[in-house]
Amino acid sequence: MQKLIVVTGASTGMGASTARELARQRFHVLAGVRRDHDADAIRTTDIEPVILDITSSEQVAALAARVAADPRTLHALVNNAGIQVNAPVEARRWRSGGGCSRSTCSATSPSPRRSCPRSCRTRAA
Ligand SMILES: NC(=O)c1ccc[n+]([C@@H]2O[C@H](COP(=O)([O-])OP(=O)(O)OC[C@H]3O[C@@H](n4cnc5c(N)ncnc54)[C@H](OP(=O)(O)O)[C@@H]3O)[C@@H](O)[C@H]2O)c1
Repeated sequence: MQKLIVVTGASTGMGASTARELARQRFHVLAGVRRDHDADAIRTTDIEPVILDITSSEQVAALAARVAADPRTLHALVNNAGIQVNAPVEARRWRSGGGCSRSTCSATSPSPRRSCPRSCRTRAA
């Protein structure tokens, strides 16, 4: 029986590459993405996209239920989703409501927009 692996943040970068490599090695990958078009882009026979924002307790619970219901045991969790913050957290401005809840994406930010999630970068553009 195929082994099950969860990869979070599988829309781009190392997460997407990891999901594809694990699928190539015949694992069944539950690939966490935040948008439907990212799900469509990564979906293959062995890569099953799941809508997952790791800051959403509902979506994390839904993934846990999905894993628990699977006859395959969970072989690994690749906890990849995240953003890179290129400054001490004390130096960052944090937004609440409306904007990115984790990190600033304001034009005055000293760090590149690449540091923010794609949805945040899009809002800031
Ligand atoms: N590249 C480096 O040199 C480096 C160095 C140290 C650590 N890291 C860490 O390694 C991981 C992957 O890096 P990368 O370069 O491949 O980054 P990346 O291309 O920016 O990919 C980050 C992934 O995480 C997802 N993500 C961000 N916030 C999320 C959230 N709240 N819930 C679910 N998914 C979320 C993004 O989804 P969206 O497309 O929806 O935004 C994307 O799929 C990141 O955690 C990064 O911080 C990278």
